[in-house]
Amino acid sequence: MKITKICCIGAGYVGGPTMAVIAQKCPQIEVTVVDLNEERIAAWNDENIDNIPIYEPGLGKIVAEGRGRNLFFSTDVEKAIDEAQIIFISVNTPTKTYGKGKGMAADLKYIELCARQIASVAKDNKIVVEKSTLPVRTAEAIKSILDHTGNGVQFQILSNPEFLAEGTAVQDLLNPDRILIGGDPSEEGQKAIQALVGVYSNWVTADKILTTNVWSSELSKLTANAFLAQRISSINAMSELCEKTGADVNEVAKAIGMDSRIGPKFLKASVGFGGSCFQKDILNLVYIAKSYGLNEVADYWEQVIIMNDHQKRRFSNNIVQTLYNTVSDKKICFLGWAFKKDTNDTRESAAIYVADDLINEHAKIAVYDPKVSRKKVLADLDCLETRTVSANAASVVSFDDPYEACANAHAVAVLTEWDEFIQYDWQKIYDAMQKPAFVFDGRNILDGPTLEAIGFVYQGIGS
Ligand code: NAD
Ligand code: UDX
Repeated sequence: MKITKICCIGAGYVGGPTMAVIAQKCPQIEVTVVDLNEERIAAWNDENIDNIPIYEPGLGKIVAEGRGRNLFFSTDVEKAIDEAQIIFISVNTPTKTYGKGKGMAADLKYIELCARQIASVAKDNKIVVEKSTLPVRTAEAIKSILDHTGNGVQFQILSNPEFLAEGTAVQDLLNPDRILIGGDPSEEGQKAIQALVGVYSNWVTADKILTTNVWSSELSKLTANAFLAQRISSINAMSELCEKTGADVNEVAKAIGMDSRIGPKFLKASVGFGGSCFQKDILNLVYIAKSYGLNEVADYWEQVIIMNDHQKRRFSNNIVQTLYNTVSDKKICFLGWAFKKDTNDTRESAAIYVADDLINEHAKIAVYDPKVSRKKVLADLDCLETRTVSANAASVVSFDDPYEACANAHAVAVLTEWDEFIQYDWQKIYDAMQKPAFVFDGRNILDGPTLEAIGFVYQGIGS
């Protein structure tokens, strides 16, 4: 089948960048990204490319190049569904906040809405692609909705999970480790797989395109995230032991990472992993395992989350303890609020939880993040519902200038590993701070001995 029209429902961190790259690499295909969120679509269409809603290195250029040529952003979901041969579903699948599975299961209401809308609009055969991360066997539910409410139209459901990481999304999309496509073993299913393989073949070599059955594909995504997060919790567990024993977690990570069976990636001890995926997907995995009665499997993976929560809490407890057991009315400067560098995404960022703990201790938090606004910082804290909106506003100030943020602070806490923090004039920061001046490096990016030579009391993670 010759593919000339694709649509993607959901113009978020996955839908936007993924479709921009498909449009760039497949000039013969018209790609339309749709979303219910009018503000988000308006931002994607903003003439000033700096105003697109997602910050990712290199993304602005690709969007600017494709927009209006073969890349379109629109709120007209029905039209896009009607015209497309392939429909990607890339909507959010957050942890449920209500009912059965609250706090664990993935909330599939947005997925179901998409399926129903596709069923009601489609007038010809469609390939529906799960791009969102979904519980294993979700394709069954989507198929059932499509087959029972459709207009006699044939649907093929494929699973094509996305493995991009934020901050490196464009590079990950241009040079993926692999493309995974799961589909039905029937002849029609295999044809649908080949149609999607054809799209990716425009820039991905055949040896990197893996085809499987749908359930393997769905479960591989949850498994990949669980394994990656597990490595971080493992090294973070060791960081606590290092602090007690005089070992240095950076040295331990290097030593074990040189074992080719272990490898060096995802062994960076930190204040804890954040982001919209790891916690959500592991909780979902735990929920699925429990629902099959696999309690040992569930407990095993849940420990990754327990360890991560412990690491965040340990970081804030240590700040309080080190600052003579009280941070009341002390100014603590947060360098970084995003969950990792090179993104404006703050979902599940460790900074939110550390700030919440410190505000409970009556600290005053000053935040500097190169890509996160004050509005977003406050909204993140308000979402926790720990205290009133006005109490949060009274406890947190954001700055556009890092030196102003640090002035008069009792301590600086590094929450995100932005490269620019390493380049700062730390002597200047020291001079303007209260003494003794503390640095709590939640990312192990600063050079401890250099800071100590200036006069700081420096504490990294795991040393
Ligand atoms: P997001 O919240 O940034 O974007 C989702 C978008 O879908 C929102 O803009 C929302 O308005 C829109 N939407 C929801 N329901 C809709 C509907 N019925 N019609 C039209 N639009 C609708 O989420 P995201 O980070 O892009 O993640 C999307 C999916 O991809 C999730 O399942 C996530 O787990 C998965 N994923 C995310 C990443 C990542 O790095 N963020 C990586 C891999 C996979
Ligand atoms: C993750 C997966 O990497 C990606 O494949 C998937 O598609 C979506 O989820 P993302 O959450 O965007 O991507 O970023 P990632 O680089 O995985 O970082 C997640 C969190 O772990 C960040 O808070 C990061 O700072 C932290 N991290 C990462 C560590 O603390 N130590 C490490 O060694 C690596």
